[in-house]
Amino acid sequence: MIRSFDRQVFGNIENLGNVLSVDEATNLLETWVPNIKLRNHMYQVGYLLKCWAKEKENLGEKEQWKWQMTGWLHDADWDQWPDEHCHKIIAELESKNVDPEVLHAITSHGPKHFGVEPVNQLDKVLYAFDELSGFLHAYSLMRPDGYVGMEVKGVMKRLKDKTFAAQVSREDITDGAMRLGIPIDELIQFAIVHQKNTPEVK
Ligand SMILES: [Fe+2]
Ligand SMILES: [Fe+2]
Repeated sequence: MIRSFDRQVFGNIENLGNVLSVDEATNLLETWVPNIKLRNHMYQVGYLLKCWAKEKENLGEKEQWKWQMTGWLHDADWDQWPDEHCHKIIAELESKNVDPEVLHAITSHGPKHFGVEPVNQLDKVLYAFDELSGFLHAYSLMRPDGYVGMEVKGVMKRLKDKTFAAQVSREDITDGAMRLGIPIDELIQFAIVHQKNTPEVK
């Protein structure tokens, strides 16, 4: 049973700009998440965030990595400690003095569950792509050519089919796009173009 947070402030403002190294984040992700499917999901979301930071927000490399790392770690405790989802990874990252914006984004990736609203752009982009990325991946697996030739209209059609990838919350996808203020078809197009290039997912 997922628990809400009883606070709204995470980390310390003095730690703004503090991120893990690529090796530290990889190590954390791979030791905490034995399930390869979940790992791939986290890598894919991270890659979408990095690409978004670069293309849409015009952020530099350091910020791009901060966005990517947030995606990499957003579900880090889900595999082994589902009842502590978000609480355990937040405690870990707080103990490592990680940037409070990274922490806030992770705690707000499920506003219905964790009781923290997406406020910053990083929060909103993570929330908008989380379920959508998983959905796109499920769709790629049932297509003979995977991501090749995938079109927005095909994805939209599957989204309307409630029996397909039924565990993916359509409500969160709609809500996420609305809060970000970007039409769903634009988000889908962006994910179609980039998700297949996630370097960590073979
Ligand atoms: Fe999650
Ligand atoms: Fe996720």
